[in-house]
Amino acid sequence: MPLPTIEWEGNLEGRVRLIDQTRLPTELKYIYCEDLKSIWHAIKTLMVRGAPAIGIAAVTGVLLGIKDIHVDDAEVFFKELKNVTNYLATSRPTAVNLFWGLSRMERVAQENQGKPVHEIKELLLQEAIDVQNEDKSICRKIGENGVKYIKDGDGVLTHCNAGGLATADYGTALAVMFKANEQGKKFKVYADETRPLLQGARLTTWELMHAGIDVTLICDNMAAHVMKLGKIQCVIVGADRIAANGDAANKIGTYGVSILAKEHGIPFYVAAPVSTFDLTITSGDEIPIEERSSEEVTCGFGKRTAPEGIKVFNPAFDVTPAKNITAIITEKGVIESPSTENVQKILGQ
Ligand code: MRU
Repeated sequence: MPLPTIEWEGNLEGRVRLIDQTRLPTELKYIYCEDLKSIWHAIKTLMVRGAPAIGIAAVTGVLLGIKDIHVDDAEVFFKELKNVTNYLATSRPTAVNLFWGLSRMERVAQENQGKPVHEIKELLLQEAIDVQNEDKSICRKIGENGVKYIKDGDGVLTHCNAGGLATADYGTALAVMFKANEQGKKFKVYADETRPLLQGARLTTWELMHAGIDVTLICDNMAAHVMKLGKIQCVIVGADRIAANGDAANKIGTYGVSILAKEHGIPFYVAAPVSTFDLTITSGDEIPIEERSSEEVTCGFGKRTAPEGIKVFNPAFDVTPAKNITAIITEKGVIESPSTENVQKILGQ
């Protein structure tokens, strides 16, 4: 059974339990967030990370925020709720699942405006639990929809971590691999280590090894060579935000991998839930790209590897254009040759 990455424990006075992903792979430790600030901090520092898991952190974060709103006056409650969602929205900018989760909670509150505050709070609790349960079935559906793309004997390259740790428990890109493994297919995975925070090296390899899947770690700059050697038959990655035309933001380096795949004639798949689509933006040019601290590059994991004072550019994501994507695997079906029209065919307007 996969481990739950993040979940709400208890009733409205409860707390969030999550795997502290900054400690993996050496230490598997659950931590508890009891208040709004601690979940914001957990998102910001990547204790919880990966777009769908961030979505769950958002909805459970709202529950932590409303724990401290002790009012019966609906108007005051709605004002305080807005402060909570505004605050959580400042944690990370790129994964749209954060904003999707916050909007879902706001919508439930709005739709039940006339009810007593304590009832609205109960409905918000139910909504957050629904989001976390839905994610489990959505990921399994993504696995089922994508499994045909992995054939016996294949080598599959992935970048960053789009596994159970990036979702409630089963992953998106890795869901396809878990499903292929469950079906008894024999294949090898090559995991890019994913500089600078090493989600591939620390998390993807850990998850795949635990599932008994044959996985080999490579440095990011080895992908071209490994492809040239004929070891890769497909690339499968996750996404943090997908525009209406199919352009997909994912961990920095994904765009480069897509160009390499194209050059070598290797199909490039993105696996993501519908909640990762941002249909309000027409193309990937509008996706906000998070920039993180220079220390992640110069002093990763406590060891200085560049001179003090060096200028650093550290964007955490890049955008793969739809033209480089063979198909996007969602829970609703597969979007072949992504384009505005083809996205609409599967997702509707
Ligand atoms: O900075 P991170 O670790 O949150 O970045 C995560 C990714 O880029 C994942 O590939 C993406 O969120 C897909 S998760 C199913």
